[in-house]
Amino acid sequence: MAGRLILGIETSCDETAAAVYSSDDGLRSNVLYSQTEIHKEYGGVIPELASRSHLEKINSIVRRALEHGGVTLDVIDAIAVTVKPGLPGSLLVGLSFAKAIAWAKKKPIIGIDHLEGHIFSSFLEKSLPFPYLCLSASGGHTALYLVKNFGEFQIIGQTLDDAAGEAFDKIAKLMGLGYPGGPLIEKYAQEISFEDFFHYPRGNPHTLDFSFSGLKTAVLYDLVKRGWYDLPAKSLLATMNFENKKQVASSLLVCISKMFEQKIELALKEFSYVRGISFVGGVACNRFIKAKLAQLANKHNLPFASPSPAFCTDNAAMIAFVGNYKAEQNKFDTYSLDIF
Ligand code: KG4
Ligand code: ZN
Repeated sequence: MAGRLILGIETSCDETAAAVYSSDDGLRSNVLYSQTEIHKEYGGVIPELASRSHLEKINSIVRRALEHGGVTLDVIDAIAVTVKPGLPGSLLVGLSFAKAIAWAKKKPIIGIDHLEGHIFSSFLEKSLPFPYLCLSASGGHTALYLVKNFGEFQIIGQTLDDAAGEAFDKIAKLMGLGYPGGPLIEKYAQEISFEDFFHYPRGNPHTLDFSFSGLKTAVLYDLVKRGWYDLPAKSLLATMNFENKKQVASSLLVCISKMFEQKIELALKEFSYVRGISFVGGVACNRFIKAKLAQLANKHNLPFASPSPAFCTDNAAMIAFVGNYKAEQNKFDTYSLDIF
């Protein structure tokens, strides 16, 4: 049967996910329950609600992943589970569940770094030659990596404050667009053809590190300056109309895209020997930024990989994929595996 079979489990934030990956035929199933509806009304993830929801869903999600994969737990060769980084209560639900079934069925367990999952998520659909540059951007992290091999990567630049997705989410909240902000900003910007109306600051072009909190403050003060935001009252004013919101969304998207392009260009100068570029994480759902980075790669004659949206946002397929090469390298953990 189908080479090595890995069951992947992911519960680091607000998605309860499980997947089955086969070393022979690739991804066999990928099941996910998103808690977005639960957290929407609060404008962000509430940790206590997240772990409770994981607890309710984990059993059925794992069962479904096994069923869809046409396997039972008995034929699974190893269980890969996210152990860091993430919300402690959420991580503990996935890990405790994974340990319990691993112990009951005497299966090996492998603790996975969620960020490593994102980095290698692009391989679920397309292989890139090593070494290559990876830009990983989501709600919790933003970093540039030099990827040397499976499981071998080095951070060459990272955010000094907020993550890119967080900037989208916080600015969308400021404008009362809703949560999560990234997809909404894209929707608004799309209607106005991604023009750069307000030229927001793009940070220091001479470093590979990112900073997004300055951008958030710059947008806030620009809104105040234009008479669209009441700073003491912390509220948006009715003077800001629908068209203005589209202009801000569009300018923000162009700004973040330019920041990414700038960093990648700089990294390509420093690491001129790289053989490809990948763009991963929740923000890589953004079609505008994806297209800009694909153009950049093309300009440098480098292959470009960026996963479909289902593999950009949190998922267990990427966890099972990393679990597969770790199993191949005999990197198993003991049953005393813990989070962080
Ligand atoms: O990878 P992910 O699901 O969770 C984390 O590990 O954080 O990423 C979620 C982030 C959110 O901040 C969300 O606003 C952003 O990804 N995002 C987007 C888009 N879709 C999701 N940002 C920009 N454009 C999008 N289309
Ligand atoms: Zn993530």
